[in-house]
Amino acid sequence: MYKIGIVDQIHQDGIKILKDHPKFEYEIIKDISKKNLIKELPKFDGLALRLTKLDEEILSACKKLKVISRHGVGYDNVNINFLKRNNIKLLITATANAVTVAEHVMFMLLNISKGKTLYDDAVRSGFFKENVRKNDTFELYNKTVLIVGFGRIGKILVKRFLGFEMKVKVFDPFVNENIIKSFGAAKVEDLKKTLSEIDVVTLHVPLNEKTNNLFDINVFKNMKKNSVIINTSRGGIINEKDLDKALNDRIIFAAGLDVFLKEPIEKNNPLLKNKNVLLSPHASTLTKECILRTAKETIQNLIDFFENKTKNEMVVKL
Ligand SMILES: NC(=O)c1ccc[n+]([C@@H]2O[C@H](COP(=O)([O-])OP(=O)(O)OC[C@H]3O[C@@H](n4cnc5c(N)ncnc54)[C@H](O)[C@@H]3O)[C@@H](O)[C@H]2O)c1
Repeated sequence: MYKIGIVDQIHQDGIKILKDHPKFEYEIIKDISKKNLIKELPKFDGLALRLTKLDEEILSACKKLKVISRHGVGYDNVNINFLKRNNIKLLITATANAVTVAEHVMFMLLNISKGKTLYDDAVRSGFFKENVRKNDTFELYNKTVLIVGFGRIGKILVKRFLGFEMKVKVFDPFVNENIIKSFGAAKVEDLKKTLSEIDVVTLHVPLNEKTNNLFDINVFKNMKKNSVIINTSRGGIINEKDLDKALNDRIIFAAGLDVFLKEPIEKNNPLLKNKNVLLSPHASTLTKECILRTAKETIQNLIDFFENKTKNEMVVKL
């Protein structure tokens, strides 16, 4: 019997796959304090992991651990150097959530373009057309969007933007120009230089040393006054203090953020008071369909691993 630890809760339908499986037993670890993780995790062969941080100290205690299956695709919460050194495999739910994040980007952009809750507020408070015309609403039609990071999410966003007749550019030094072209977008080589032509920036890169603070005040200064930035990737890629300043000084027009440097967002984060930013609580993947798909894929990845059937696209090359 392999022992699986489910760190934090996942959808019951994922857990059900393990319940009915003769080769596995599982336990759900609800107390995700470091102390408890160090106490509970050593007994497991495999872990299903949401956003709980697994640092070197916790991982060192996991003497039987062979595989971690991330419920999601980002893995900045796991010490990958430790995994590499100790030959522990890392799997992600590569096919479960790209479409859901892409829809969240469209939700944020469309909301911002129409003044967030402007119209709904107006009708409910007894104004019909008086105030709403003065606002900065705009169309997506004919605007230029820059996708930063052309992986699973970046790629499927292109057809959504093209559907709105936007012009699509891509910044991703690791993806060949012809691949980007085949999706109907154009590759740009220099991020800073291109920003003066861009109306909407959307971020789809992993968080690492290179992307940490990728957008700070110096970069915002290259952007158009009316531009919008959306971040559904990871907090830290945008410098939050600099973003607050860029919005207040009208260096850029608006932002949509699903992710933050500290999560849950801290009460004194100035962005909470900034009316030019649309916020969501790391919820890009929280549709009922996606929660279910991701939970099932997380568990299936663990089963596949122990049955030597791991699918290539699920493996993080460490
Ligand atoms: N908010 C959420 O709930 C949520 C959900 C899913 C994914 N995410 C985040 O979104 C990120 C993107 O997801 P994905 O599935 O598209 O990942 P992916 O690995 O398929 O794609 C990432 C792309 O970023 C590119 N890249 C890496 N470094 C870069 C750099 N410095 N500049 C430009 N491009 C760079 C890579 O070449 C790759 O094409 C994930 O890393 C994850 O952190 C967040």
